[in-house]
Amino acid sequence: MSDVLNFVSVRLDDEKSELIILDQSKLPNEVCFHHYKTKEEIFNAIVTLQVRGAPAIGIAAAYGLYLSVKIHNHVSHTDFFALFKQNKDYLASSRPTAVNLFWALDRMERCLESNKDKSIEEILNFLMIESENIRDEDEAVCLEIGEHTLTLLKAGMGLLTHCNAGTLATAKYGTALAPIYLGQKRGYDFKVFADETRPLLQGARLTAWELNETGIDVTLICDNMASIVMKKGLIDAVLVGCDRVAANGDTANKIGTSNVAILAKHYNIPFYVCAPCSTIDRMTSCGDDIEIELRKGEEITTTWYQKPMAPLNVKTFNPAFDVTDAELITAIITEKGIIYPPYDESIRKLFEKGEQI
Ligand code: MRU
Repeated sequence: MSDVLNFVSVRLDDEKSELIILDQSKLPNEVCFHHYKTKEEIFNAIVTLQVRGAPAIGIAAAYGLYLSVKIHNHVSHTDFFALFKQNKDYLASSRPTAVNLFWALDRMERCLESNKDKSIEEILNFLMIESENIRDEDEAVCLEIGEHTLTLLKAGMGLLTHCNAGTLATAKYGTALAPIYLGQKRGYDFKVFADETRPLLQGARLTAWELNETGIDVTLICDNMASIVMKKGLIDAVLVGCDRVAANGDTANKIGTSNVAILAKHYNIPFYVCAPCSTIDRMTSCGDDIEIELRKGEEITTTWYQKPMAPLNVKTFNPAFDVTDAELITAIITEKGIIYPPYDESIRKLFEKGEQI
């Protein structure tokens, strides 16, 4: 067993001006860390899912933006601001669905704006601190989500999860997996079922790996086995993370999540979405307005196989995410507490204090 919870999926080494990324595309066969310095390398790490999961993508992008302007510490203020904007737009174009990416980059821009009258050296220092804050706050947020979610669960429960919303996808602990880690310390003895999560197998490669490594009782199933485990009474609750929650509660998460939600409703099993407030996008009114990333067909036909597993040149459709309708979601658990339907109202109340989140 390895100390997975102490593996940091994204870390800044400011002295060396590099970002250290645990390459999730190589797990579970290889634990390999890359050291990246340029915005192109960091962009590529996001696109190729070396770093993935909504919060981790946001953290990587914030660090990436900081590093991308750090090298321009001798230019004029005007040029520095122009480069910042250019690099921000570039990193924002890496993946379209996880709103944490845009949230983190916007937060970096607000930090720039509020320090605009300072020297470039001072501005860079504030940007560095802001990127570290984004990471550190995510760890605290995940713990809060874990605590709130645990209040909905009982010892010995069977839990189903889809994709990977674990420590790898965040600063630490994960969102949907945080209550499982907290529960383990408190003797809850959960029995976790991890969907393999076709086509990129985040459930098999990442969730099954991190839970297994930490000694949690985890059983890997293929995506099309969710119904049978539910019917057999092995699942008491479904816990998933998410990439974007619209203002009405419609939720985008890894492709196949909505199938699980529909099944959960059929079997009368609560379906919980664990979402940091940074994943709630009040500017997107409903799920239809969430841009869904389309990825290459090879991910379905060849990526995991020695030989192609489909006719060459067959047409493919490979959306990376789907939207679970708000009506299928029993509750959304944020760091600020648990919210229930109607979500348009509960989401509005969650942000009522007017804080900029
Ligand atoms: O394509 P991925 O692996 O980045 O998709 C990740 C997910 O769908 C996760 O469930 C989501 O980002 C939540 S991570 C806490």
